[in-house]
Parts: sequence; C-alpha cells; structure tokens
Amino acid sequence: MRIVIAGGHGKVALLLERLLAERGDQVVGLIRNPAHAADVQNAGAEAVVCDLEAASAEDVTALLSGADAVVFAAGAGPGSGAPRKDSVDRGASALMADAAERAGVRRFVQISTMGAGQPPRPGTDEVWAAYITAKTAAEDDLRARDLDWTILRPGRLTDAPPAGRIRLARPPVPRGMIPRADVAAVIAALLDNPGTRHQTLELVGGDSPVAAAVRSIS
Ligand SMILES: NC(=O)c1ccc[n+]([C@@H]2O[C@H](COP(=O)([O-])OP(=O)(O)OC[C@H]3O[C@@H](n4cnc5c(N)ncnc54)[C@H](OP(=O)(O)O)[C@@H]3O)[C@@H](O)[C@H]2O)c1
Repeated sequence: MRIVIAGGHGKVALLLERLLAERGDQVVGLIRNPAHAADVQNAGAEAVVCDLEAASAEDVTALLSGADAVVFAAGAGPGSGAPRKDSVDRGASALMADAAERAGVRRFVQISTMGAGQPPRPGTDEVWAAYITAKTAAEDDLRARDLDWTILRPGRLTDAPPAGRIRLARPPVPRGMIPRADVAAVIAALLDNPGTRHQTLELVGGDSPVAAAVRSIS
C-alpha cells in the first residue's frame, strides 16, 4: 500500500512510518519543516514538505495521487493557542479529507482524541476547549464525506514502550492512557481491516492483543 501521513514528523507518525515501512508499505510523511526530513527518511518513509496551514486542496490532491490511504496524525501540539487548534486539528484534517476525495483515495484514518464528540465541559481552559471543539469539528467533517473513514480517539498518549495489549471499542470507553507505539500499531492494523470503516473507536491500554481487538471491530 502507498500511505500518506499528515504530520509526518509527529511522535505517533514516526512510529507508524517505521512499522509500515518494515512490513513493505510505501510511506510518505508530510512535514512542514524541511529540517525534519532526515528523521522521516530514517523511519523508512519519503519526506514531502507541505505546510497544511498554507497548502491548497489542489496542492494536496496532487500529493495524494496514487495513494491507497491517508492517515491524519498532525496536531497543533502542546504550546499552541486556540487559533492553531482550529487551523491544524480541524482545518488540516478537512483539507486532507477534501484532497482525498478529489484524488479518489477512499481510505482515511483520522487520529482524534477521547473527549471529542461532546461540547467541552463548562469552565474548561480556553485552549483545551478549542482543542476539543476542533477535534469534534474534524470528526463531523470526515463523517459527512464519501470516504472509507475510521476515527480513532486515543486516551492520553505516553512514550512508554508498546504494551501490545489494548482496549478498543465504540464510545464510551473509560478514560485511560495508551503508549504512542500502541496507537501506531492499531493504525497499521486498521489500514489492513477495511471492515473498520465508518467506525468511531476509542483506544486505551487494555487486555486484548492489537490484531484481535481490531478484528473484533470489523
Ligand atoms: N497528547 C495526547 O495525550 C493526545 C491524546 C489523544 C490524541 N492526541 C492526538 O494524537 C495525534 C498525534 O499525537 P502526537 O503526540 O504524535 O503529535 P505531535 O508529536 O505533536 O505531532 C504533530 C505533528 O503535526 C505537525 N504539524 C503541525 N502543524 C502542521 C502543519 N501546518 N502542516 C504540517 N504538519 C503540521 C507537527 O509538525 P511540527 O513539528 O513542524 O510542528 C508535528 O510533527 C494528534 O492529532 C494529537 O492531537 C494527542
């Protein structure tokens, strides 16, 4: 498969690129900072510079030509303010989905977050509220499209080694944590299981091996 990953230098993305490249997939990581290219290449992917807050749908459509799947792994990240939650966590996802439709790339896995899908709790910190609002809008945008989408809502991400055991289910799943390496393994398995399309799934650490958990959803 040829897989294009938005946010190609993200922590989950780099782990995913390595997993996919090792199993023989052709992987492209979209980055905005050319200095990140070497890390993406070391993970086994091709690095393509594309700032998703500046690119047009036409630009991104051209990059998706010949791809089999898109993974949205970008995010404005810690330290960013409310406007970038909207321009990246919502806007860049909608841009990728628009380009996927135009390019005829049907499979689209979006990394969202637990907490999306409901309004932020009253009194929530303004930036957190903007993040949850942006992720919810990105999910709604994707669900409305004619794509084979899967929305993955991980719990709090950690840099722990992969546990290989997860809890993956339709909402609501109780809050929890999940290593980024396990998120990457779940996305790799979702790409192999088109039966998971049109599902919104929550993910935390648990007892089920990744492959079995993903198969049970299909
Ligand atoms: N942290 C958590 O606990 C948590 C929980 C649930 C879900 N999530 C979500 O999980 C996803 C992956 O998390 P992560 O920790 O792997 O993220 P990350 O390391 O912060 O990576 C996000 C990537 O997005 C890129 N990006 C930002 N703006 C961009 C733009 N305009 N154009 C292209 N790329 C851009 C960043 O590039 P630069 O390095 O150039 O900024 C970065 O490489 C994110 O969507 C996050 O919201 C996080």
